[in-house]
Amino acid sequence: MPDLQFVRVEHDEELAIVTIDRQEKMNALNAEVVAELGEAFDFVRGDDSVRGVILTGAGEKAFVAGADIGELATMNAMTGVEVSRAGQKVFLDIERFPKPVLAAIGGYTLGGGFELALACHLRIASANARFGLPEVSLGIIPGYGGTIRLARLIGLGRAIELTLTGEMFKADRAETLGVVSSVVSREELMTEAKALLRKVTKNGPVAVAKAIESIYRAVDTSMLEALDYESSQFGLLAATEDMREGMTAFLEKRAADFKGV
Ligand code: COA
Repeated sequence: MPDLQFVRVEHDEELAIVTIDRQEKMNALNAEVVAELGEAFDFVRGDDSVRGVILTGAGEKAFVAGADIGELATMNAMTGVEVSRAGQKVFLDIERFPKPVLAAIGGYTLGGGFELALACHLRIASANARFGLPEVSLGIIPGYGGTIRLARLIGLGRAIELTLTGEMFKADRAETLGVVSSVVSREELMTEAKALLRKVTKNGPVAVAKAIESIYRAVDTSMLEALDYESSQFGLLAATEDMREGMTAFLEKRAADFKGV
């Protein structure tokens, strides 16, 4: 377990729970938090007992209220690019993570915090969640993949509106827009997050990893390349013990016991 100041990693059976804990600053992402987030995910990646990850923010007030504005205020043209790339790398590693990552979102989820949630595979929110990309109000743009991922998720028109106005919106609108799968009470957030993620982790881990890979790859490539990639992954899965187990279990009318190989 890495010894981190702002990020905690806990285990709940086959799930890892990664919590950003910098509550005095609404869990804002300074360089250290971003680096520690990368370390936490690297650690979880190598832990074979983990089949899914919940990413959340400590406390009631915020998932993450954005990148640390105190730190951003000192940027120049050179360091600005570096800040953006450092965040982009960690967020891309989360998006390409071979185990499903679910963002359990409560409270303020702004700027880099919203971008972080967008890099996760699944998102649910509590009713007190507030979303937004206020970067333009600070004279910058979302720099951790937000100008790309939001449009891919909810469509160009809505993404442009939200990015240019920088307006905050509530959890029910996030659900209508397709930003989150569901909205639950604050008390139920972690229970519901685990229940949703367990609908994934009960499935074959190699198949889940390949599904994540194929879907994100398709977004980046042409239809023909994506189809080609999909069939190559389909073929790889046909050689796994998990496929035999999944299909045998179905035919024997029992639950599958996947080993991840
Ligand atoms: N970066 C740095 N510090 C932040 C922060 C951020 N993104 N978001 C909140 N904080 C800090 C505040 O400065 C304050 O610190 P202080 O107690 O040392 O003054 C502390 O967190 C609590 O925030 P506060 O503003 O007092 O709480 P609030 O309930 O009145 O407002 C927010 C909450 C989230 C609406 C408000 O803090 C805010 O607008 N934050 C910035 C959001 C943003 O623009 N994010 C995008 C950055 S690119």
